[in-house]
Amino acid sequence: MRIFASVALSSDGYMDDCSSRRLILSTPADWRDVLRLRAEADAILVGAETIRRDDPSLTLHDEALQRRRIAEGRDAEPMKVTLSRSLRLDPRAKFFTTGLGQRLIFTTSNAPTPLEASATLIRCPELTAARIVTELEKRGVHKLFIEGGPHTLLIFFDANLIDMLRVAVNPTVTVGDPHAPRFDAGFSLEKYPQHRQTFDGMEVTTYTLHPDRTQEDLHYLRMAIDLSHRCTPCATCYRVGAVIVTRSGEIYTGYTHETSPTHHAEQEAIAKALAAGADLRGGTIYSSLEPCSTRSSEPESCSELILRHGFSRTVFALYEPSCFVSCQGAERLREGGVEVRVYDELGNDVRAINAHLGL
Ligand SMILES: NC(=O)c1ccc[n+]([C@@H]2O[C@H](COP(=O)([O-])OP(=O)(O)OC[C@H]3O[C@@H](n4cnc5c(N)ncnc54)[C@H](OP(=O)(O)O)[C@@H]3O)[C@@H](O)[C@H]2O)c1
Repeated sequence: MRIFASVALSSDGYMDDCSSRRLILSTPADWRDVLRLRAEADAILVGAETIRRDDPSLTLHDEALQRRRIAEGRDAEPMKVTLSRSLRLDPRAKFFTTGLGQRLIFTTSNAPTPLEASATLIRCPELTAARIVTELEKRGVHKLFIEGGPHTLLIFFDANLIDMLRVAVNPTVTVGDPHAPRFDAGFSLEKYPQHRQTFDGMEVTTYTLHPDRTQEDLHYLRMAIDLSHRCTPCATCYRVGAVIVTRSGEIYTGYTHETSPTHHAEQEAIAKALAAGADLRGGTIYSSLEPCSTRSSEPESCSELILRHGFSRTVFALYEPSCFVSCQGAERLREGGVEVRVYDELGNDVRAINAHLGL
């Protein structure tokens, strides 16, 4: 998934003032550009407090944008997503009553709620950015657009999950109230590549926090999928291939059961790299299938191995189906600070190679 966040700020860095009225910071041309970005997304996410204070519709407001999405085979509007522990949300809010997008609420509450009539609730004992991103990705969200507020943005910044950030500053608005919500990513943005534009006097800077590495990722992921053909089909295992690319560019490969009937592909590739004295810290591991999170036949799962050896990225094509266990590899890796990318356009190739399991 690629995650894009957007904020509009006053000249002195505030996202709102303390009045009960919604502070409009965007100019019309800036707003059109935000709608263009919304239209590219599969889902738009805001925190519950933004719904309570601003009552945003989170729709496209534009039939041409809707028609373009439909022509591309997508839903007319992106899914709307919010987070709320309290479930203190008004069912009459525009989030629930306007637009064509599906509505999803992530919550830690188990209480019954009338909101279930107009939204799908995802109830989890604990809500982290890694959990939310993984759940959304499994529901087909490839591009997530986060529109605030500051608390919600910070959860995703802290987890290092934001790939691109659009900061739009209105130089004609000053808030000057230390109690008003302020934008703070929690780190300096200056070292990241930036692109500057102006929309109706609004100064927009787009920061690239994680570059898009799709071409390189697809190349090595296809190599991992090719390797998985070498594993003999058996009723108790997935046929998986893995490729490691170290920071210095060395490549190591493995496939399921290559040297032992209990070894997974990632384990085989890691063992070869370690035998060759490779430094795996900061490297990328490509696996045709999501790395496992529990093992009964080995002391460590592949996710634990990936975390212990300090890989910075994991790339795979298919979330592990629930044939044997419920896998939480992607979520654990994200929780551990590993960048996880999933290219499910190659998922059918992995399913075909594992047809012996009825995938
Ligand atoms: N200028 C801009 O670009 C912009 C954009 C958006 C918003 N805003 C402004 O930002 C302000 C609101 O921002 P905010 O930071 O106060 O709130 P927020 O980020 O919109 O929402 C925070 C709420 O999200 C829920 N939440 C957060 N973390 C959660 C977790 N881990 N699990 C479950 N729920 C979680 C909680 O809802 P519950 O309280 O329901 O449990 C929490 O109160 C408003 O003034 C709005 O105008 C400005």
